[in-house]
Amino acid sequence: MKIERPTTGGGRKLYIETYGCQMNVGDSEIIVSIMQNEGYIFTKKIEEADIILVNTCSIRDNAEQRIWGRLKEFQRYKRAKRSLIVGIVGCMAERLKEQLLEREPIVDIVAGPDSYRDMPRLVDAVSAGSKGINVALSQEETYGDIRPVRFDTNGVSAFVSIMRGCINMCAYCVVPYTRGIERSRNPETILRELHDIYEAGYREVTLLGQNVNSYRWKNEEGEVVVDFPRLMEMAAGVAPDLRVRFATSHPKDLSDRLIEVMASHHNICKAIHLPAQSGSTRMLQIMNRKYTREWYLGRIAAIRAAMPDCAITTDLIAGFCTETLEDHADTLSLMREVGYESAFMFKFSMRPGTYAYRHMTDDVSEEEKTRRLTEIINLQNELSIASNRRDIGKTFEVLIEGTSKRSTEQLCGRTSQNKMVVFPAAEGLGAGKYATVRITDCSSATLFGELV
Ligand code: SAH
Ligand code: SF4
Ligand code: F3S
Repeated sequence: MKIERPTTGGGRKLYIETYGCQMNVGDSEIIVSIMQNEGYIFTKKIEEADIILVNTCSIRDNAEQRIWGRLKEFQRYKRAKRSLIVGIVGCMAERLKEQLLEREPIVDIVAGPDSYRDMPRLVDAVSAGSKGINVALSQEETYGDIRPVRFDTNGVSAFVSIMRGCINMCAYCVVPYTRGIERSRNPETILRELHDIYEAGYREVTLLGQNVNSYRWKNEEGEVVVDFPRLMEMAAGVAPDLRVRFATSHPKDLSDRLIEVMASHHNICKAIHLPAQSGSTRMLQIMNRKYTREWYLGRIAAIRAAMPDCAITTDLIAGFCTETLEDHADTLSLMREVGYESAFMFKFSMRPGTYAYRHMTDDVSEEEKTRRLTEIINLQNELSIASNRRDIGKTFEVLIEGTSKRSTEQLCGRTSQNKMVVFPAAEGLGAGKYATVRITDCSSATLFGELV
């Protein structure tokens, strides 16, 4: 007979809402795991929640504004249930700390990204009549031993966090302040998780970190025993039909060895997300990115030489401090030169506490940022369509994610290059299976094909 240990949750219902990047999605899965272990019950219905947690993002001001707006909406749930507990966790909690409690009285708990093991205690503190706050950052915490509870997934592709924090100190970026110092997770726990998800039917995993190329696991003598290329080899060895992806790579650390490992494993996806941020060497230097335009293009050439079919995607920032029209033109020309398959494109948003905030002036006007961003987005649309058109007539192995949104007679899934393909359903095909599909048509966001 299983011996029940006393828990503090007592069947109370936990609802969690997640904003920001995939790391936050992974963290929410860790929080749910910790709370379930304490006897809380996870719910997807906010109306029945006893505890609402919001896992927040601080990357740009508009990300935070959205969360302030959402907190206002929670007031009606609190009016309906006086005992309701509201917690803010994640990057905004870490950035604003007690200020969150002062500014928004409905908030009961503030917990930073390294304090999730403390969550049950924080909830108890609130039940006992006080507020719960823990924003301590850690040098070691990786939640390596916790098996995340995966919710809101398609059951086919999963994300696994391999490291936490960032030490790169890009001048515009708040992440090193909200997530703390970079640390790598024990590879044994990573591999155990990969085997678990494979057993559970997943067929694709994305290894996650702010800069996965600097993953390193050291032994007790301090020697690096597993670096990122080695970890990728180990991940690719879990099962031949488990696809492996990763995000994000910092261009300065993208090694030839990693490119070799990618090229030599069929199940390592041919897709690299390599955020350039700008095409101007002068801007890259001010941003503290530690590479030049030429270095970046050299890395692209190395990728293309080893993997001509590799998709390359990026992040770009429009209107960082002192950006001139010439710098902006350099970004547009870099985009054309690389021919990105897709991109995440942002207007620069000044974040308190960053190097830029302390030492630079946000001197590109809002209208000008918008104008530059629009040019970048329009160009990327052209490039994405051109990239999709080049795929017409080619044949791809597609990992099926499910039926298409528009029709149950259509299936959808992704190519190794991470492009979405829609094609007619057929006997024996469904989520988690592979299909060979020839591309016959495309839109800017989707490929359409037929089974071969
Ligand atoms: N670690 C990843 C990026 C994490 S943040 C990397 O270095 O590539 C995701 C993206 O948000 C960044 O690549 C950048 O393009 C954008 N970003 C970060 N801070 C920003 C800011 N202050 N204003 C606008 N965009 C920002
Ligand atoms: Fe931010 Fe730079 Fe770290 Fe990416 S590498 S999270 S942009 S500081
Ligand atoms: Fe946002 Fe934090 Fe991710 S600031 S982008 S949730 S690391």
